[in-house]
Amino acid sequence: MSHFLTIPAATVLLLFLITAASSSADPSETAALRAFKSSVKPASIPPSSCLATWNFSFDPCAAPRVTHFTCGVTCAAGRVVQLTLDSQGYSGTLTPLISQLSQLVTLDVGENDFHGPIPASIASLPNLRNLILRVNSFSGALPASIAAAKSLTTLDLARNSISGALPDLSPLESLTRLDLSYNKLTGALPRLPPNLNELALKSNSLSGQLTKSSFSELTHLMVLELAENSLSGAIPSWLFLLPSLQQIDLAKNGITSVSVAAPNSNSELVAVDLSYNKLEGNLPEEFADYAALRSLALSYNKLRGPIPWQYSRKGSTLRRLYLDGNYLNGSPPQGLFSGGGQVSGSLGDNCLRRCPAASELCLKSQKPASICQQAYGGKPKPKPKPKS
Ligand SMILES: *[C@@H]1O[C@H](CO)[C@@H](O)[C@H](O)[C@H]1NC(C)=O
Repeated sequence: MSHFLTIPAATVLLLFLITAASSSADPSETAALRAFKSSVKPASIPPSSCLATWNFSFDPCAAPRVTHFTCGVTCAAGRVVQLTLDSQGYSGTLTPLISQLSQLVTLDVGENDFHGPIPASIASLPNLRNLILRVNSFSGALPASIAAAKSLTTLDLARNSISGALPDLSPLESLTRLDLSYNKLTGALPRLPPNLNELALKSNSLSGQLTKSSFSELTHLMVLELAENSLSGAIPSWLFLLPSLQQIDLAKNGITSVSVAAPNSNSELVAVDLSYNKLEGNLPEEFADYAALRSLALSYNKLRGPIPWQYSRKGSTLRRLYLDGNYLNGSPPQGLFSGGGQVSGSLGDNCLRRCPAASELCLKSQKPASICQQAYGGKPKPKPKPKS
């Protein structure tokens, strides 16, 4: 029966060899991890969580991680490269000593209950690529020094209470994803990081106009999410010509006009939402020339005049069209109702004549005649419909 003893003996030897082979953590990094854990309220650390396994009687970087530091921290050659917490409702602050983890590549404490400021010292982490603090209660301003964290590729601080103006982030040349949605940011958009693919600033209190100096270099921008802010002024035509742009969401702002230029031949623009603004003027017929555009929402503005016949011309890619809640008049182009309900959306709550009740697009009724007469200064005068 002696072979029953040799198996545990071999296992112990193996564990010993692995432990001996793995590097131990740098003392200042261990101190930083200790400070990190002590900034989290013990009562918010459930026994089954990653942080509960952090026991500083042991080396944070020593393998195997069977009973201690089993998760939350990853080392490479004795240096901490990742601090990725589980989502457990950890409540605490983020220690400025985090900057002692000088090889840190990823810091992710998302979906917990961290509060207090984002330490400015984070900016001194030269290898930090992913900073993910989303869904917590961080407050105060985004430190301007963050622009020095040159390795950042993802900055996700969505759903916190970050206030004040956005600092100039244009030095962050590796940043591809910036998400600060659902915070309390104010002021105008600064110059933006030039290589962004995704800019998400939904539901803040940003104001001012969209300026070329913010966007001019953003040739890789695919998603622009700026809904639910207080942006005003005109949407300039160059915005629609950013070469990689696929989605624009500027709904629920205070924008008063939009100009749309003829597209570049390789335009990738798929979806535009400008609903719930204060847009005046006629519907830009140029939207119909964007060869990839499938979804156009301009609901609840103050748009007037007829729906351009081009919106329903043969070969149109438009599949979702939301124009309800404006003062559009004339007869909608009949092409919208043929093609077996290819186009969904709404044309209701306008001043349209002959919107066929059988069409889903016309389910919502039109405005009362009195309101339409008022909007058109007496008599509704639809523009003559061009021949299609
Ligand atoms: C850490 O581990 C040591 C040795 O196993 C143990 O005595 C101590 O209670 C542990 N500390 C905590 C905070 O769990």
